[in-house]
Formats: sequence, structure tokens, C-alpha cells
Amino acid sequence: MGTGRHQFIGETIVLVWISCYGRVMSRQVAKEFWTSCRDYPAFGSKQRRFYELMWTLPKLEGFNSLLEIGCGSGEFLDLLTKTTDIEKFFGCDISESLLAKVGSNIETFVFDMYDSSELPSADVILMWASLQYIFEDSVIEKLLASLKCKKLLIRTPCEKEDLIIEKFSKELGANYSSRYMTLDNLLKLLSKDFTVIDVARAYPERIESKFGSKQWLIECTKKV
Ligand SMILES: C[S@@+](CC[C@H](N)C(=O)[O-])C[C@H]1O[C@@H](n2cnc3c(N)ncnc32)[C@H](O)[C@@H]1O
Repeated sequence: MGTGRHQFIGETIVLVWISCYGRVMSRQVAKEFWTSCRDYPAFGSKQRRFYELMWTLPKLEGFNSLLEIGCGSGEFLDLLTKTTDIEKFFGCDISESLLAKVGSNIETFVFDMYDSSELPSADVILMWASLQYIFEDSVIEKLLASLKCKKLLIRTPCEKEDLIIEKFSKELGANYSSRYMTLDNLLKLLSKDFTVIDVARAYPERIESKFGSKQWLIECTKKV
């Protein structure tokens, strides 16, 4: 009886350790991929930006400042500078080489979502395809709790099951890793500090990922 319990505890500790170690490795692979990127990789159809803008623009009316966490080369921010009345734009990312490509009308700085360094406050914070590079719920919770904004807009891929992919990608020509959480889990994490007010699929099926994950758009307001 005692031995069985000890074996169970031992196996549980090993499984937890393997899971934690796996997530640390995935984080390293993602970091290595993005910090060595010279150009922003082409993900899917160019029409996707049109659908992203159509959903986002009405939600930005009346706001004056916007910060994008994980802005890459600023492709989406650039569109927002041209199509909104927002006066102040900030963009941050882990990749210095991608940030170097962001337009000079956007204030940029290096930031790692795993660090707890303070972010500037902004009316709206955007996490546009960056949340999937945080591999632990606890790190997501900590980051969400630290955000100083009125509104948070997220685009992220979700799957039916929580899973991490880590492999050599032929399309991207490098080792790549990303986490696909379930929509339910993400909404649960968000609900601690935010009120979710809109959840929508980002794209029509024909321009979705051929690998099966679906991109979701989520609008939340900060709880007071
Ligand atoms: C799929 S790209 C999205 C870029 C941009 N948001 C867009 O829509 O064009 C993901 C971005 O997240 C950034 N990223 C990945 N891990 C990060 C981390 N730990 N901290 C900050 N940014 C990170 C990458 O460098 C990359 O620019």
C-alpha cells in the first residue's frame, strides 16, 4: 500500500518535471526562432489582414493610445496608424531585428513577455498572435494582471485540446514552437482581470491554417 503510494508520487513528480522541462525548451525554441528572424515570415493569406482590420477598427473608436505586445515588424500597427485616429502608438517585441523594421511614427522597445518589467499604460493593448509563445498559464496570468489598459484585444490560435508543437518547420526553414490552448482555458485565464465582451473566429475557413488550428479574436475590458 505504502510502496504503491510512493510509486504514484514518484511518477507524478517525474511527469511534472518532464512537462516543465518541455515548456522551458519550447520557450527557448520560440525565442531563438523570433530573435534570429531577419524578416517577418509570411503566415497564411494576405487577405487575413483585411478580416483583422474589419473586426478591430470599430473597437478602437474614441481611444487615444495603443500598445502592441509582440508587434514584430509592425505590419498590423502600420495599418492601424493609417486607418484610425489614435494619436500615440507603442510597439514592443522580443526581436530587435523585427523591431528595427517598425515605422518611426511608432515608439518601440524590446520586451520579453516572460519578464516582469513594467509596460507603459495605453488605452488599448493588442496581443496579436503573440500569446501563443507563452507556454505556461501562470506566466499568462501574471502578464495579464500587470497590463494597464482600458481594453485588450487578442488574436490567437486555439485548438480543441491544449497542445504545444515543437518541430523543424519546412515552411519556415527553422525549428519552431508554439502553444495552442483551448478557447475555454484562455477565456478562463482572461476572466480573472478582464471582462470578455466579444469572441469571434478571425477568418473564413478557406483562409484558415491548413494545420487545423483556428484563429480567434477576443475583445475584453479591464475589470476595475
Ligand atoms: C506571429 S508574430 C506576430 C507579429 C505581429 N503581432 C503581427 O501580427 O504582425 C509573433 C510575434 O511575437 C513575438 N514574440 C514571441 N515571443 C515573445 C516574447 N517572449 N516576448 C515578446 N514578444 C515575443 C515575436 O518576436 C513575433 O514578432
